[in-house]
Amino acid sequence: MQTTTTYQKEFITYLEAFSKEREPKNLYEPINYILKLGGKRLRPVLTLMSAEIFNCDYKKALDAALSIEVFHNFSLIHDDIMDDAPIRRGKPTVHEKWDLNTGILSGDAMLIMAYRLFENYDPETFQALAKLFSKTALEVCEGQQYDVDFEIRDDVTIPEYLKMIEYKTAVLVGAAMKMGAIIAKASEKDQNSIYEFGRLLGIAFQLQDDYLDAFGDPETFGKQVGGDIIENKKTYLYLKANAFLSASESIQLQQLYSVNLDDNEEKINTVKAFFISSGSAETTKKEIANYTSKAFSVLNALSISDEKKTLLQQFGNTLMTRKV
Ligand code: IPE
Ligand code: IPE
Ligand code: MG
Ligand code: MG
Ligand code: MG
Repeated sequence: MQTTTTYQKEFITYLEAFSKEREPKNLYEPINYILKLGGKRLRPVLTLMSAEIFNCDYKKALDAALSIEVFHNFSLIHDDIMDDAPIRRGKPTVHEKWDLNTGILSGDAMLIMAYRLFENYDPETFQALAKLFSKTALEVCEGQQYDVDFEIRDDVTIPEYLKMIEYKTAVLVGAAMKMGAIIAKASEKDQNSIYEFGRLLGIAFQLQDDYLDAFGDPETFGKQVGGDIIENKKTYLYLKANAFLSASESIQLQQLYSVNLDDNEEKINTVKAFFISSGSAETTKKEIANYTSKAFSVLNALSISDEKKTLLQQFGNTLMTRKV
């Protein structure tokens, strides 16, 4: 096994070689822009780690790791259009820097590029990877649609929210890990357990993303703080606040979430105060820890050494304390 930093570095070197200048510029420049903008590289690192956990050289998993990261970045370009987001990783989003049509087409091209990377595997592995990828990618679309549908609904339940984040975010984390296991030709049982580990970690990850969207430090967060509040996103923070607040305060919160304003500063401040006073911010933190420990309990089912299980736990714990 290597350290997380090594996986990250090796992955970035591989990515640099992949993102070449090509014509037409207006198609490929935005692709290279978003891919080189940084980011935590969480999913590709997990793919490489998972391959080695099941005793395979991580180098064999680089194409799958790249595929996952290209897909993830494609989903971010389209997500930023859908969420009307001005900044990503501290820089203008693709549709802001170029325009809407560029964001749509460059994103489409990235989805194809992601698929194409599986062609570098033998037919049996190709089929397994492509099958998992198709299922996952479609689920991400379903999750994204629920996310947008929920913006104008006022009766979203916690189970509905959890299903939404499972689809838009968690299944890709699960798939990233399962791909490593597929390439390593791990047993089906191990493949499924590592998927489950990633899926549960992915739910914690999205809960944390929602938390940081409201309470992240604007200096370092890299995205517009309060973006979810502006867009009336039905996050865990919002749903729990509504459940915990008094009837009159809850009505006030719902009213704030029924409008689209030009100046959002006051809305953001009032909503954040409700998130804190209601206890919803604390409950969200507990739920992040809860899903992380659910993920850890899945590790028992894996036929790997305790050292490797500890590495996965360490990774999960660092995710919980992240600030971006
Ligand atoms: C952002 O993902 C989108 C979500 C699913 C929450 P990341 O937080 O992994 O974004 P980067 O790649 O590190 O920028
Ligand atoms: C994004 O969820 C999920 C996908 C991109 C599929 P968010 O909309 O919360 O992600 P951020 O916060 O913009 O990164
Ligand atoms: Mg978004
Ligand atoms: Mg979104
Ligand atoms: Mg978010």
